[in-house]
Amino acid sequence: MPKTNNIAVIPGDGTGPEVVNEGIKVLNAISGKSGFKLSFNYFDFGGDRYLKTGEVLPDNATDELKKYDAIYLGAIGHPDVKPGILEKGILLRLRFELDQYINLRPVKLYPGVDCPLKDKGPEHIDFVVVRENTEGLYAGSGGFLKKGTEDEVAIQESINTRKGIERCIRYAFKYCKKRNKNKKLTLCGKTNVLTYAFDLWERTFNEIAKEYPDITSDYAHVDAITMWFIKNPEWFDVIVTDNMFGDIITDLGAMIQGGMGIAAGGNINPEGVSMFEPIGGSAPKYKGKNVINPLAAICAAGLMLEHLGEEQAGREVEEAVMKVTASHLKSLAAGQMGMTTTEVGDLVAKYVT
Ligand code: IPM
Ligand code: MN
Repeated sequence: MPKTNNIAVIPGDGTGPEVVNEGIKVLNAISGKSGFKLSFNYFDFGGDRYLKTGEVLPDNATDELKKYDAIYLGAIGHPDVKPGILEKGILLRLRFELDQYINLRPVKLYPGVDCPLKDKGPEHIDFVVVRENTEGLYAGSGGFLKKGTEDEVAIQESINTRKGIERCIRYAFKYCKKRNKNKKLTLCGKTNVLTYAFDLWERTFNEIAKEYPDITSDYAHVDAITMWFIKNPEWFDVIVTDNMFGDIITDLGAMIQGGMGIAAGGNINPEGVSMFEPIGGSAPKYKGKNVINPLAAICAAGLMLEHLGEEQAGREVEEAVMKVTASHLKSLAAGQMGMTTTEVGDLVAKYVT
């Protein structure tokens, strides 16, 4: 009997459901061919459910989701809901409660994709950011003093635990070794100013580096790294960084790989349930128009397959996406692809079978 992978699907808001449909189309196509089974169970978490019921996430949601082999997420964010409620209440809550302590974000320029950097091609842009995903400024620690008065104080604390840093850095070294490309791991920090947080990051990094003599360890300040992403992206292989810096540099990463239409990521708990998503958001203005680019969601599905142990299938999804970017799409931007959302999904599904 082939193994069945049970997937929890959260299509979410805006164009989330449309791109998730295309991802599932591709997943069904490749599983039919490769002889493994996938089953999908849908969850209606998102803005519409919140507006209808007043509940952001049911209390048993994480316990329910823990029963699955992986989670496939479309997008969270609704124009009629105040920013922060759904992002914090669904996306960040799931990341935290499922202890998905790694946010893995590949930055790879595919053939045929228009790159905003002059004289840079696919041979220059192929690296992966390992972002810590449960701590730092995202931990929600802080508060107001004398709120609403002229003496008001707002404090937002960055939480960095030895355990949290260590498990993230260990994952990054292991991942770099397994990736087996340039065998270089760069710590992205700000040791010249954040002299507590990044002191701990740097000490931990240097300690663990001793266990990986075959990997070159490297350091760059976060401000400098934004400069190198533009000037010399070919310097990078794997980058490890904290939650906030990882959030910021991966949007820049997405731009140099062709934009939000292609950028995918995984929220990973190596010992638990992981969640895969296109990183571009819900793009509500394109909802229901069949113009949004589904490739980021399809790439996220590919990452999910790899994570589920179907590595060959994951590679085939990526190869199919590369064929589509190389010879079919006019642009990766919504409405400018020269094809509809569903046509792009059909084409990738055709190439994987
Ligand atoms: C991301 C997003 C989220 C983050 C938001 C929506 C909370 O920007 O996945 O990068 O900041 O992590
Ligand atoms: Mn972000």
